[in-house]
Parts: sequence; C-alpha cells; structure tokens
Amino acid sequence: MATLSIKDLHVSVGGKEILKGVTLDVHQGRTTALVGPNGHGKSTLLFAIMGHPNYLVTSGSITLDGQDVLALSVDERSKLGLFLAMQYPSEIPGVNSADFLKAAMNVRRDKPMSLFQFYSKMQTAYQEMGIPFEMSARNLNEGFSGGEKKRNEILQLKLLEPSIAMLDEIDSGLDVDALRVVSSAIVEEQKKGRGFLVVSHYARLYDLIAPDDVAVMVNGRIAVTGGPEIISKIDTKGYEWIKTELGIEIEKESSVGSIGVCATKEALKK
Ligand SMILES: Nc1ncnc2c1ncn2[C@@H]1O[C@H](COP(=O)(O)OP(=O)(O)O)[C@@H](O)[C@H]1O
Ligand SMILES: [Mg+2]
Repeated sequence: MATLSIKDLHVSVGGKEILKGVTLDVHQGRTTALVGPNGHGKSTLLFAIMGHPNYLVTSGSITLDGQDVLALSVDERSKLGLFLAMQYPSEIPGVNSADFLKAAMNVRRDKPMSLFQFYSKMQTAYQEMGIPFEMSARNLNEGFSGGEKKRNEILQLKLLEPSIAMLDEIDSGLDVDALRVVSSAIVEEQKKGRGFLVVSHYARLYDLIAPDDVAVMVNGRIAVTGGPEIISKIDTKGYEWIKTELGIEIEKESSVGSIGVCATKEALKK
C-alpha cells in the first residue's frame, strides 16, 4: 500500500510563503480529512502535491512510496497514482470529454484499450455518476453546471484509478441528490482501496464518507491530527478551541461568520 508522505513542506505563492512546514502522511486504503479555516493553505497543499506551476516548493519533501514526487512533472505525478479533483474545474474549450478520457486512460497502459473496452468502461462510469452519456461528446467542462463539473471530476477519478485521490471541496455547489451520488462513488472507491485526502467545510460530507484520520491546517501548518471526533468538535464549536486548547493564535481574520468556519452547527443557529 502506497503512502504519500509530506515532510516539512514550505510553499510560496506569488512571493508569499503560505505553507510553513507541513508534515502529513496520507495512506492508500485510508481517508484523511483536511480541514481548517479559509485561507490557511489547504488548497495550496493540494496544488503543490499535484505540481501546479504557481505553487513554488521552497523546501521540504513529498514522496509517494519513497519516490520523489517533486522531481516529476504533473503528468508523471498523475501516472504515478496521484489525482486532484479541483474546487473550480477549468473549462477546456476544444477538448472533447471522451477524447480527453481516452487519452488519459491510455497513457497509463502499455497498449491502448480497444474502442469497445473504452466505451463500455466510460458508459458504466457515466451511468454510475448519473451524467447523461451525451455529455461525453461535449467539450471538457465547457458550459457544465457547477454540479456537473463536480460529478465529472469524480467520473475521471473512477476511470483513472489513482492510488491517492485529493478532493478539494468536492461537495461545494452540490444539491442533496448530487451529494449522494458523489459520496457513494467515493465510498465505492474507498472499498477498492484508494487513499483519499479530502478538503471540506461540511460534516455532512464527512458523515457520508467516514474519514479515518483528520488533520487541521492552521497558519500554513498542521496544528493537530486525530480521528473523526475532531470533525464533530469543529462542527459544534468551530475553531476557537485551537486557540484556547492548543494556544495557537489563528493568524488572520478570514471570511464571514465565526472563525472562518463556513457552517458550524452553532454558527448556523445564530
Ligand atoms: N495564486 C495566488 N496568488 C496569491 N496568493 C494566493 C494564491 N493562491 C492562494 N493564495 C493565498 O494563499 C493563502 C492560502 O490559500 P488557500 O490555499 O486557497 O487556502 P484554503 O484552501 O485553506 O482556503 C490565502 O491567503 C490566499 O489568498
Ligand atoms: Mg481552498
């Protein structure tokens, strides 16, 4: 079983240091929830792992089963078994969805799949994700609704079969039915032994996908790690306890509401 191992990672964006020494292990066959107030570096960590060119790793290491991920290009990282479902998937005009999927699947095989094999895999995946198969003829994400883009990210995950999949706020913008489809697809992939690193603000998603481990990112570092009980704590109390119990000052005022948390039960009652 592969382990994605991040050690003392420092990452700068636009000349500003955002990650200030992140250490975290993500194991294949387990699901790690990555939570924390807005603007504290969760997406930055995922982008840095995947190799986004704007995210400059200044020190530290990322390895997957001992292999140096930082030495690899984005497509090599993908072939190695990493996958990122983005919070805001880009629209790619001129790139047909089916062609894109076929190319991405074939590049990780010795021999290209037969057209029959490809279409039957694709049809199953579209069906399981509740996406009309006609959408495979459209350009990638072009004019897709927010929910369709998110389903489409998970569809790619199903077809690319990564060992470690990172999901950045996959549940934002999903209605109840879409959330059910997406979360059951994640559960199915969990059963296949994939590892997950899942960023969300909502306990609702975590209730459905049952993470094994939880890491809280504050000020560009992992402030605390533990089990699912941390999610319940954040859901009821927000992040104030990070300061009162751990003595960590949450550096910047972020977003609206209590302390950068989108929707704690207490905050929502107000
Ligand atoms: N492309 C960018 N240029 C400049 N600053 C950025 C960029 N992307 C992110 N940041 C900054 O990095 C910080 C962390 O952002 P992010 O990783 O998106 O946080 P989170 O996902 O935890 O909400 C924020 O202060 C954000 O403004
Ligand atoms: Mg983010």
